[in-house]
Amino acid sequence: MAPAEVFTNNIVLVLFVIFLTMIPDVAGSVGVNWGTMATHQIPPHNVVQMLKENGFDKVKLFDADERIMAALIGTDIEVMLAIPNYMLHEMSQDPRAATAWVDENVTSWSYNGGVKIRYVAVGNEPFLQTYNGTYLHVTLPALTNIQRALDRAGLGSHVKATVPFNADIYYSPGSNPVPSAGDFRPDIRDLTVEVIQFLSGNDAPFTVNIYPFLSLYGDPNFPLDFAFFDGSKKPITDGDSVYTNAFDANLDTLMWSLDKAGYPDLQVLIGEVGWPTDGDKNANIQNAKRFNQGLIRHALSGNGTPKRKGKNIEVYLFSLIDENAKAIAPGSFERHWGIFEFDGKPKYGLDLLGLEQDKGLAPVEGVRYQLRRWCVLDPEATELAELPDSIDYACSQSDCTALGYGSSCNHLSAQGNASYAFNMYYQLHNQGYWDCDFSGLALVTDKDPSEDDCQFPVMIAYAHSRKRNGIFGILAGNLLFLLLLLLLLLLR
Ligand SMILES: *[C@@H]1O[C@H](CO)[C@@H](O)[C@H](O)[C@H]1NC(C)=O
Ligand SMILES: *[C@@H]1O[C@H](CO)[C@@H](O)[C@H](O)[C@H]1NC(C)=O
Ligand SMILES: *[C@@H]1O[C@H](CO)[C@@H](O)[C@H](O)[C@H]1NC(C)=O
Repeated sequence: MAPAEVFTNNIVLVLFVIFLTMIPDVAGSVGVNWGTMATHQIPPHNVVQMLKENGFDKVKLFDADERIMAALIGTDIEVMLAIPNYMLHEMSQDPRAATAWVDENVTSWSYNGGVKIRYVAVGNEPFLQTYNGTYLHVTLPALTNIQRALDRAGLGSHVKATVPFNADIYYSPGSNPVPSAGDFRPDIRDLTVEVIQFLSGNDAPFTVNIYPFLSLYGDPNFPLDFAFFDGSKKPITDGDSVYTNAFDANLDTLMWSLDKAGYPDLQVLIGEVGWPTDGDKNANIQNAKRFNQGLIRHALSGNGTPKRKGKNIEVYLFSLIDENAKAIAPGSFERHWGIFEFDGKPKYGLDLLGLEQDKGLAPVEGVRYQLRRWCVLDPEATELAELPDSIDYACSQSDCTALGYGSSCNHLSAQGNASYAFNMYYQLHNQGYWDCDFSGLALVTDKDPSEDDCQFPVMIAYAHSRKRNGIFGILAGNLLFLLLLLLLLLLR
């Protein structure tokens, strides 16, 4: 290289470095919840690759799955791990259990170049009213034991324990439904304030899950546009503050509650927030995109809320990928919160930096599928007496949430319903030979029965099922292979 060239190269380098320092500090980013209640899981390694590709740099997990943790090694993705509710009792009773949990699930990954663990969520919405108080008195002791264990491991200064709360631990009275009238529910106020006191003393954040979709779902009179971020015809006026969206009104009800409890500056994270795309009349791709894009833009705008102005809002979207094995007691939409389909394809474009760009999202690459074939009702079947029972059975053993009222496949004919149910059963059972029979009413086809807005999926080729991974699975697979080999040899 000639000296002149070296010189210009250096100039270019210097200019480049100057240029880099001039790019406005990307003001923040959004996190995402990665739940795994699905019958078929994409390998975590492929998912992590996609997270990096799209620039997600924070994830929240619901446990401390070893395979996910291994896939996160060496990445810059900041992680919130979690202790499921069923472990809270043990963690609250026995500090050694908390220490063992921290050793195995935090310390062992927290080396230089390991996993960037930032938070441990202790329980998930433990004060939810449907739990009938089961976790009320174990939450704070478990939180305390976990934070102490983190401290003893020398990690306490940068790994913080928190508790993701549901938003119904605070409220505004019906007689004065404005954020500034907010407070914690009287029946759990003292317990909640004790938790807050502990969090504050450890410089740990308060975590809350906020769902305008559920407000809309639960109240037929809820004004639709108040659930979104693009202005509302009926804003709420609260003193000098004007609220044009349910999210801010909800979050500020918490801010006022914290204020009244004596902690006006406690850091607050939004642990879950999002919008589903199927399973209800308001759950569709347009609404999900409108909500999530509006939320991201708002959260990263630095505007904050009327009560806490001028700050970014730290949010974890719910959720990353659809989970077809979630309980649907709350509603069929529960299996459709993903920004990505079960197979890692994005459902819609989303600009994660909150700039006004109409950007696509990168899909998960390298996903393997089962064969392109479907199980449908035999068009020539005449003995249909058993059909309703067969549909019920197929749906009880798979996922028919797309068939319900307001859902993407609700317009199908009775025959279409049967085919949909049969196919879901067939796919979720990995297209087994015996899984497309239904008393002789069903047959396998290679013609895709999907319509525009009603998809008959072909499953991905990764069953979650553990039984197939055991020694018997391997033996059975090899036996089949040996038998085939034998047959071929005999036929020669
Ligand atoms: C670590 O986390 C995993 C996954 O959540 C859990 O199964 C395991 O029991 C935890 N380890 C300990 C020692 O508690
Ligand atoms: C809570 O109580 C109700 C009514 O007593 C009962 O139906 C429900 O199963 C209980 N839930 C739990 C999680 O214990
Ligand atoms: C198809 O199934 C759904 C869900 O069970 C039901 O609401 C709908 O009425 C069925 N359609 C017909 C034509 O039977």
